[in-house]
Amino acid sequence: MTDPVRDWQRCAGTCVLLDGFHAVKHAVRFGAEVPVAVAVDRAAALALAGELAPDVRQPLEALLTEVPQTVYTSLVPRPHPTGVAALAVRPSREANLERLRQVPRSAPVVVLDHPRNLGNAGAVIRLAAGFGAAGVVTTGTLDPWHPTVVRGGAGLHFATAVERLDAAGLPPGPLFALDPEGEDLRGVELPDDAVLAFGSERSGLSSDLRARADRLLSLPMRPQVSSYNLATSVAMTLYHWSLGGHTAARPAL
Ligand SMILES: C[S@@+](CC[C@H](N)C(=O)[O-])C[C@H]1O[C@@H](n2cnc3c(N)ncnc32)[C@H](O)[C@@H]1O
Repeated sequence: MTDPVRDWQRCAGTCVLLDGFHAVKHAVRFGAEVPVAVAVDRAAALALAGELAPDVRQPLEALLTEVPQTVYTSLVPRPHPTGVAALAVRPSREANLERLRQVPRSAPVVVLDHPRNLGNAGAVIRLAAGFGAAGVVTTGTLDPWHPTVVRGGAGLHFATAVERLDAAGLPPGPLFALDPEGEDLRGVELPDDAVLAFGSERSGLSSDLRARADRLLSLPMRPQVSSYNLATSVAMTLYHWSLGGHTAARPAL
């Protein structure tokens, strides 16, 4: 008999917390290794999978162990309404770096230059996964695998390559930095091997990244508005890339 609490305690220090049904669903769908998964109501979780994600129903059936509500709340810091949680093995940095350095690429890499807000970073990882971006790189001190970022990313860290790097070690490809002072993005076709860089919420692009950029691009914005939110800027830029007929992002089923 497996003991989910013992397994949880054994893995908690090194694994990533997947909070809620949708995070677990995404991680499983994109190949995460999940050593332990719990549900307060296993039958309800599997019914939800049958309804919303039949492709992961079978793997979830093998993974999920039912635990009492009190045990579930003792395992997760912020209980999720779906009463489902799991721990997943974080992909190795070496494997992610190899993915990020692979050329040719069929989709851009997103770079967040010294981001500050964990929620923004999670939202960007979700966007990158949705558009089929090759990865998300952060510079600076924010950990893109922080539990709050993983929560914001809804388990989609496993659908793209997420790592922290120095600006000097960015993935190969032409570097397009987004800045309100740049040339209008609408006149530029973004190539699949683009590296798309965005500045920090507080101070914008660092001088280091700005100096490395091949081109500075701006998003259309009326005068008197200073800037857009970071994640919103990434969304518009990836959408612009996708309009160029690129294939990595496909319409949702
Ligand atoms: C909240 S903004 C940063 C605002 C910051 N106070 C500044 O001085 O730039 C975060 C990032 O989003 C991107 N961004 C926001 N609005 C943009 C625009 N109109 N054109 C291009 N990039 C934009 C830039 O990469 C920017 O560094």
